[in-house]
Amino acid sequence: MATETIYKASTTAPVNIAVVKYWGKRDPKLNLPTNSSLSVTLSQADLRTLTTATCSATYQGEDSLILNDEPSDIKGARTQACLRELRARRAALEAENSSLPKLSTMPLRIVSENNFPTAAGLASSAAGFAALVRAIANLYELPSSPTELSLIARQGSGSACRSLFGGYVAWRGGEQADGLDSKAVEVAPASHWPNMRALILVVSAAKKGVSSTSGMQQTVATSDLFQGRIATVVPAHMDKMEAAIRDRDFPAFAEVTMKDSNSFHACCMDTYPPIYYMNDVSRAAVRAVEAINAAAGKTIAAYTFDAGPNAVIYYLEENSGPVVGTFYSLLQGTDGWKDGAKSYDSAAVKLDEAT
Ligand code: DP6
Repeated sequence: MATETIYKASTTAPVNIAVVKYWGKRDPKLNLPTNSSLSVTLSQADLRTLTTATCSATYQGEDSLILNDEPSDIKGARTQACLRELRARRAALEAENSSLPKLSTMPLRIVSENNFPTAAGLASSAAGFAALVRAIANLYELPSSPTELSLIARQGSGSACRSLFGGYVAWRGGEQADGLDSKAVEVAPASHWPNMRALILVVSAAKKGVSSTSGMQQTVATSDLFQGRIATVVPAHMDKMEAAIRDRDFPAFAEVTMKDSNSFHACCMDTYPPIYYMNDVSRAAVRAVEAINAAAGKTIAAYTFDAGPNAVIYYLEENSGPVVGTFYSLLQGTDGWKDGAKSYDSAAVKLDEAT
């Protein structure tokens, strides 16, 4: 019987690590950023969220979400914003075509899991919201491109909009008050620069002290340095980074990556009261990258840090000996590195169809 049908769709979404950072909201409600940002997507074979969305007229009660085997809050404003937008798009399709089942009126059951240990200390909200939005878009058979879905995922978590693509991805911050121009676009596919690698050094798997969401709002409200970052530093970094990716120029890519991470953490320190995400072990990773590059006589490694102490080191496959080798020997007998390091392939991301 049609009324007993359970409609189902599954998808995966990858983790991305920004090389030009998103930090600051110009509109917290619509989750619009103060600046554009750019990231590299990591391989789904290593790091991804798998999400299955089902709906049925036989389901009782409200929408539900199970995250890594635990019931999770689906009532948060950001998740609700995503569900509202997706339902509205499905309802519009149903209004146009009365033979479509009324999925928009049925309760949703969403089950989501990460294939990377929570102990990896990686922010999972990017992959999580990207997978949630795409799974429901697939379930609802929405004819939406990844860029259109990025407009919805952005409302769940800003960085999630960049996880709708593989490869090298820009989030164009946009200028419109309605946010319709604040979306992700592909700068280059992974195949354009397939030997890019990311080494993730886990300093601490503990939950971060100050969340990105609240940290960036404190920075916007109190940091003077931040005004310069959004007015001149980030626009220059975006231009240089896009050129470096276009030309596959690793030293230029590395310089912008490291300078942008430094600029972001300087603004965190200039926040009042200051926010410290990097610690002594993080700073040791910075020194190690400098030593690796000095020994090589050229730039073969670049560090970047998000809202926590863990380091991500970008390098090219052909330099894995000196880069990964140096970090591995450094890690031996070092107390600070809790869970060691793992190298992730940032090249082999395959995109699912949007619908
Ligand atoms: C430092 O995307 O987690 O990782 O939009 O409030 O959910 P919300 O913030 P979020 O912030 C990510 C900040 C960052 C830099 C980046 O990924 O660009």
